[in-house]
Amino acid sequence: YHVDWDIEAAEKGGYDHFMLKEIFEQPRVVKDTLLPRLPLDQDEILLDGISLSKEDIEKINQIYIVACGTASYTGLVGKYLVERISRIPVISEIASEFRYRDPILDENTLMIVVSQSGETADTLAALRMAKKSGAHVIGIVNAVGSTIAREADDVLYTWAGPEIAVASTKAYSAQLCAMYLISIKIAMELGKISVEEFRELRDELYAIPKKIETILEQSDKIKELAYKYKDSKNVFYIGRGLDFAVSMEGALKLKEIAYLHAEPYAAGELKHGPIALIEDGSLVVGLLAQEELFDKTVSNIKEVKARGAKVLAIALEGNTEIEKTADEVIYVPRTHWYLTSILENIPQQIFAYYIAVGLGHDVDKPRNLAKSVTVE
Ligand code: G6P
Repeated sequence: YHVDWDIEAAEKGGYDHFMLKEIFEQPRVVKDTLLPRLPLDQDEILLDGISLSKEDIEKINQIYIVACGTASYTGLVGKYLVERISRIPVISEIASEFRYRDPILDENTLMIVVSQSGETADTLAALRMAKKSGAHVIGIVNAVGSTIAREADDVLYTWAGPEIAVASTKAYSAQLCAMYLISIKIAMELGKISVEEFRELRDELYAIPKKIETILEQSDKIKELAYKYKDSKNVFYIGRGLDFAVSMEGALKLKEIAYLHAEPYAAGELKHGPIALIEDGSLVVGLLAQEELFDKTVSNIKEVKARGAKVLAIALEGNTEIEKTADEVIYVPRTHWYLTSILENIPQQIFAYYIAVGLGHDVDKPRNLAKSVTVE
């Protein structure tokens, strides 16, 4: 008598890969990261582990958000959010660049480092530099007790749980949640948002897990699209504003696990070069979750269509006029503009996952990549 059982299959909980399991865990991860910090009976965000007082926040004259890989795109989103509402200059930068260019730092600098593992060598080096200069360092970290968590002045944990797949999915969503919380907290302390606006944002944050579920329910449709476009040779992700920040992560996922040549471009920058690469069979993923920039990005989409590209649009529910221009459309639920990035990214994850599966790649352990990069 012999029982065949596979520990790894059991850990995958019925999913074919850890990456897919982790994508589907996101409603839970978002709840765990957000809700304990957003009590409904107080008009406040409880940031356990953050020691900055209102006075400290008032003194901040610049913010650096420094990280590597997917975590660095949390910084780009943070830059748009903080600058737009709190009017503090934010520099979002890759840690390997930051550490070697003698950046301007002082005691009134807030540095936010973002890291899933808490062990990335360049991010850790950036943190140490900032601390030496007297800047205050907050770590947005997933791995409890990791080096970055221990060395940062303050830690805001993302409660994503262990992430096994090399390509980051749920940890990124949790990082975005932490960034929403910190940026809203800063805005509140500076008096930049009213209690009514805060309550509106909080209600929307509470609604995010359900909205992610409605996107996950579309995964069969996204899978079909992935199989249809898996042989594309060049993929361009375009968007403006927060959509541009999200496009970076979409293109990275496709490179990492599907090994497709994919590039993110600010939609307005297309005509300064990249449009020369568009030809029959190019695929353009157009991100359209910024209502005020919708028409601008649509006009860029028309330009690539005219040059033979196929276009997959990710748009807000109800904006059906995009169907006249794009070949395919995936809709995401509407939310407060502040929070669009987390929703808009989910279809990108599913799309990259199924392209990699369709091409027969080892999704959880992509070639040449490591989960945690602890050397330069
Ligand atoms: C590696 C991983 C990425 C991750 C990056 C930063 O490149 O493959 O998924 O985004 O490191 O890692 P960290 O642990 O600092 O978030």
